[in-house]
Amino acid sequence: MNCLEERILKDGVVKEGNILKVDSFLNHQLDVELFDEMGAEWAKRFEGVEINKILTIEASGIGIACVAARHFNVPVVFAKKTQSVNLDGEMYTAEVESFTHKNKNNVIVSKKFLNENDKVLIIDDFLANGCALQGLISIINSAGASVAGIGIAIEKGFQSGGQIIRNLGYRLESLAIVDGMDPATGEISLRK
Ligand code: G4P
Repeated sequence: MNCLEERILKDGVVKEGNILKVDSFLNHQLDVELFDEMGAEWAKRFEGVEINKILTIEASGIGIACVAARHFNVPVVFAKKTQSVNLDGEMYTAEVESFTHKNKNNVIVSKKFLNENDKVLIIDDFLANGCALQGLISIINSAGASVAGIGIAIEKGFQSGGQIIRNLGYRLESLAIVDGMDPATGEISLRK
């Protein structure tokens, strides 16, 4: 069991609606030491893969991506979320629907920071239905760049995102895969 899995079992809280609350270490209070170990683990798993940039999405992905980037020695770009439709031509954009928040955002990345020479590792905190990831992949494709791999902290294995992304042929490395959660008992089952 890796350190993230151990931490999920220790401090993760199961909420109604298939939500795993990990705000004491992952997406509100941030355990930077844990992020560092997660970064080291992704660096090990993606060893030998050419990566020159990390792409993530605001807000929770940013901290994790920045600490991970220290293990890859590459810059981090984050996609910004905006409700605005008034975007100029200097941006790549994709529409992302949030299952959790039940809203739609345009996510944008400036054309200055992504181009056809980039080999991009996508990093994010959660993978649920994969909408955010598909938005990021679409932005990378628009830039003519390539997806070198995808690193996710927590994949919710009972939602469709992981399967969709693996079926599309991407290399997806999730550090913890939650296969089930019981809000009544608080029990969390992790994939072995
Ligand atoms: P998807 O992108 O994989 O389809 O997932 P979804 O629409 O369900 O996710 C929407 C937001 O909710 C994402 O954050 C995602 O990280 C988060 N999320 C999904 N499932 C869980 C969960 O079980 N627990 C927690 N804590 N978060 C979950 P976001 O809207 O981008 O918010 P943020 O990055 O600003 O925090």
